[in-house]
Amino acid sequence: MSKVTVVGAGNVGATVANVLAHKDIVKEVVLLDLKGDFARGKALDSFQQAAIDYYSTRLKGTEDYADTAGSDIVVITAGVPRKPGMSRDDLISTNAKIVSMVTKSIMQHSENPIIIVVSNPLDVMTYAAHKASGLPSSRVFGMAGILDTARYRAFLAMALDVSPKDIQAVLMGGHGDTMVPLPRYTTIAGIPVTEMIDEDALNAIVNRTKKGGGELVKLMGTSAWYAPGAAAAQMVEAIVKDENRIFPCCVRLEGQYGIDDLFLGVPVKLNKDGIGEVIELKLDKDEMALLNTSADHVRKVIDVFNDMNV
Ligand code: NAI
Ligand code: 2OP
Repeated sequence: MSKVTVVGAGNVGATVANVLAHKDIVKEVVLLDLKGDFARGKALDSFQQAAIDYYSTRLKGTEDYADTAGSDIVVITAGVPRKPGMSRDDLISTNAKIVSMVTKSIMQHSENPIIIVVSNPLDVMTYAAHKASGLPSSRVFGMAGILDTARYRAFLAMALDVSPKDIQAVLMGGHGDTMVPLPRYTTIAGIPVTEMIDEDALNAIVNRTKKGGGELVKLMGTSAWYAPGAAAAQMVEAIVKDENRIFPCCVRLEGQYGIDDLFLGVPVKLNKDGIGEVIELKLDKDEMALLNTSADHVRKVIDVFNDMNV
C-alpha cells in the first residue's frame, strides 16, 4: 500500500492528508479538489511540515484525476458541510451528485481501490459511492462510528476526569441523531461504566453524543474537522498495516442484525482487504429497537437519494 488519494482538500480532507503524512506509513498522499491551487497549497504546506515533524510521505495537490492513478485507498470528503440549523440530511441534494461523480472519476484511474466515504449524509453517501464504484461492499465503507465513539469517550473522560485512552466503547447505527451509543458495552479500563457514573449523568452524555456534531456546528458555523480527519486517517492506518482493528464503520449489512441491503454503522474488523468481518453483538430488545429506528431513518434518506436518479 503506497498511494492514498483524499478527494476534497477542505477542512476534513486537508486534515486527513496531514494526519496521514504524520503517521509516515504511505509513500504518497494525493489531495484532489475542484480548487486545484487550494489543494496544491495544502499539500505543499503539509510537506513543508515534514522537515519539522520528521516524515517522508510525499504530498501532491491537484484537480486532475490522472494524478490519482493506481490509488490503493481513496478517502472522499468532497461536498458541502452543514451550517447552523441544518441537519446532515439537508446536504443530500448537493453532495449526492458530487460523491457519485467523484467515485466514477476515481474508478476511471484506479482498478480496485478501497474507498472510505466521509461526506454527509454519511450512510447514504456511502451507499451512493458503492453504487457508483461497482466495487464489492467489503471495499466501500464510511467513517462516522470512530468519530461518534470518540465524542462519547471524550464526554465520559471529562465527566469522570480520566484519560480518554482508558475508555472503550461501541456505538452503532446511522451517523445522525438516531445513532446508538451502547453503555452496556462501555468500560473504563475494564470497569463497567455503570459502576463509575450514575444513570442520569450517563444518559446526559449519551444524548450529548447524539447531538455532538451539531454542538460543534453551532460553535464554529461549520462542522468539525480535527477528530473527523484523525478518524479517517486511523481507518487508513488499519488497512495499510493490515491490523484487523475493530472499529464501528458504516458498512453494507447483508442480514446481520436482521437488516438487509442497508449501509449502517456496526463494529467490523478492518484489514488490508477492507471489511474483514462484521461483528454481531448480542443486542438486547431495547438496543435492537434503537438500532431499527436508526435503520428506518437511513432507509428514508436512501429513498430520497434513489428518487433523485443521480
Ligand atoms: P469543506 O467545505 O471545508 O471542504 C469540502 C471541499 O470539497 C472543498 O474544498 C470543495 O472545493 C471540495 N469539493 C466540492 N465539490 C467537489 C468535487 N466535485 N470534486 C472535488 N472536490 C470538491 O468541508 P469539510 O468540513 O471538509 O466537510 C466535507 C464533508 O465531510 C461534508 O459533507 C461534511 O458534512 C462531511 N463530514 C463528515 C463527517 C463524518 O463523520 N462522516 C465529519 C465531518 C464532516
Ligand atoms: C460531524 O459529526 C458534521 O458529520 C459531521 O461533525
